[in-house]
Amino acid sequence: MDKITAKDIINRKQKEHRKITALTAYDFPFARLVDQAGMDIVLVGDSVGMVCLGYESTVSVVMADMIHHAKAARRAVKRALVVVDMPFGSYEDAGSAVMNAKRLVQEGGAEAVKPEGGNVIASQVKALIGEGINVMSHLGMTPQSVSKLGGYKVQGRTKKEADRIFDEALRLERLGVFSIVLECVPYSLAKRITEALKIPTLGIGAGPYTDGQVLVLHDLLGFESSVHPRFVRRYARLDDAISSALERYRNDVLAGKFPTLKESFK
Ligand code: KIV
Repeated sequence: MDKITAKDIINRKQKEHRKITALTAYDFPFARLVDQAGMDIVLVGDSVGMVCLGYESTVSVVMADMIHHAKAARRAVKRALVVVDMPFGSYEDAGSAVMNAKRLVQEGGAEAVKPEGGNVIASQVKALIGEGINVMSHLGMTPQSVSKLGGYKVQGRTKKEADRIFDEALRLERLGVFSIVLECVPYSLAKRITEALKIPTLGIGAGPYTDGQVLVLHDLLGFESSVHPRFVRRYARLDDAISSALERYRNDVLAGKFPTLKESFK
């Protein structure tokens, strides 16, 4: 089984003309399942902060969190390309971007890194690529800038904003990134960008016309039922399944029904 490379991801669009599948995973057991399901990319996203660590937003996530989770996920992945998010504050300038991306590669096992933004981090992206590090970009609703963007809102609704995001995508391609995540943008903008770029786009809340799709694993599995963004399709209701299993275990212990002698040693 050959390991997927950043070049293979580009070829999915340019040569094979087939969609790219990506999902987040933050630990060994889930990364193994995501990889075994045949996903092209395992993204160790900084969404780990909200999904697994109980933070209010992704800005609380630090390098130590990302390295810890990337290491665990990387150990499980045999085939997919492992992309690791650069956390908030880890790519303020070209020097710190290179230093921290190298830590994600060397300590976390990242095969590519993903910083958020376009024009404002152009020099950082250039420096990363100059060091031979694979970069996936992230435009549109960039969660690390949530306070600047005024909340988790669709971006690129006005012509001016859409043109800016479009131009940033072109610039990132020229700088050498191998793919771009488009998060929460109108599908017409995602289509325009996808058609203009030679490198693939991955959508999340960006409609059906991107070259591939990425989702947060825990959203897809139905771990959190209180928030349900329009772009998430739940393929399971694990919150219900887990709660029911836990309740049955508790009731069985309280009622003396678990363990039985059959489940004991002589
Ligand atoms: O952190 C993350 O999970 C992400 C995806 C939303 C693309 O960046």
